Amino acid sequence: MPKTDLLDPDKITANLKTRCIGKKVLVYNSTSSTNDVAAEYAKNKKNNGMAIFAEHQTKGRGRADNKWFSRPADSLLCSVILTRCKLNPELLSLVCAVAVAETVASNARIKWPNDIILNEKKIAGILLESKINNRTTAYILGIGINCHQTRKSFPAELRKIATSIDIESKATCDRISLAKRLLTSIDHWLEAARTSTRKVTNRWRKLSIQLGHRVTVVFNGKKFTGNCIRIDPQKGLVLQLETGGVRFFDAAHTTIAK
Ligand code: BTN
Repeated sequence: MPKTDLLDPDKITANLKTRCIGKKVLVYNSTSSTNDVAAEYAKNKKNNGMAIFAEHQTKGRGRADNKWFSRPADSLLCSVILTRCKLNPELLSLVCAVAVAETVASNARIKWPNDIILNEKKIAGILLESKINNRTTAYILGIGINCHQTRKSFPAELRKIATSIDIESKATCDRISLAKRLLTSIDHWLEAARTSTRKVTNRWRKLSIQLGHRVTVVFNGKKFTGNCIRIDPQKGLVLQLETGGVRFFDAAHTTIAK
C-alpha cells in the first residue's frame, strides 16, 4: 500500500476539466460508507456533482446487501452526487458502468448491471442508489475500484474472482490520477447521455461481456436463462429466454446468477 498517493481534494481537483462532476471534492480518512455521507449532502440540490472519497469505510456496501471490504488506502472508494439528473436510472446505470470501465483500463469490460471485469476477474463495482428529497430524486453513484490489493489482500473466497489494477498492470497505480480520470469520465458520459442515448448504448455494447451470450439472471427470487440479445436504455437487459419469449430485466431488481 504506497503512501504517496493518499487522496487529497486539492490534488484531485487541480486542473480538473469537468463541466460539473468533482467541482466540489471531499476526502474522508474513515467513514461508514461514502454513499451514506453522499446521501446527507444530496439533501442540498447545490451539491450536484460533488464527489466524496474515503481512504477507508467501516460499513462499505455493495449490491444485493453484500458487504464491500477494503483495507485502508488500497482502493478508490467514491460516491458522486447527482441532484439534477434527468436520465432514467437504467440509462444512468449504463453511463456509470461505461465511465468506470474506461477509467480502469482500455481492456476492462462490463458485466451488467454494475460489475467491471478485467481479465475475467472483478476489478470494480458500482452501487447506484436514489434518495427522494422534497419530491425530487437525487442519485448517488457509489464506486469502488480495487487498486493496490495483492492476491493475498483478498479474502480466500474472492481470490479467484477478484483482482486489482496493480495486479493486472504489474505496476503501482496512482489513485490521484485515477480519481481525476474517473470524475472526467463520468462527466463526459453524463453529457454524452444528455445529447444522445445511442452514444452510451453503442459504447456499452462494445464493452459488454454478456451481449450475444447465455446469461442466467435472478429476478424476484426466480431464475431466468436466455441469450442476451440487447440492452434497452429504459428497460434494461433483454433476454431471449430458453423457455420462449423475450423479456426485459431492470438493474434495480435483477442480479446475475453465480
Ligand atoms: C458491488 O459490486 O456490489 C458494488 C460495490 C460498490 C462499492 C462502493 S465503495 C464506495 C461506495 N460506498 C459504499 O458503501 N459502496 C460504494
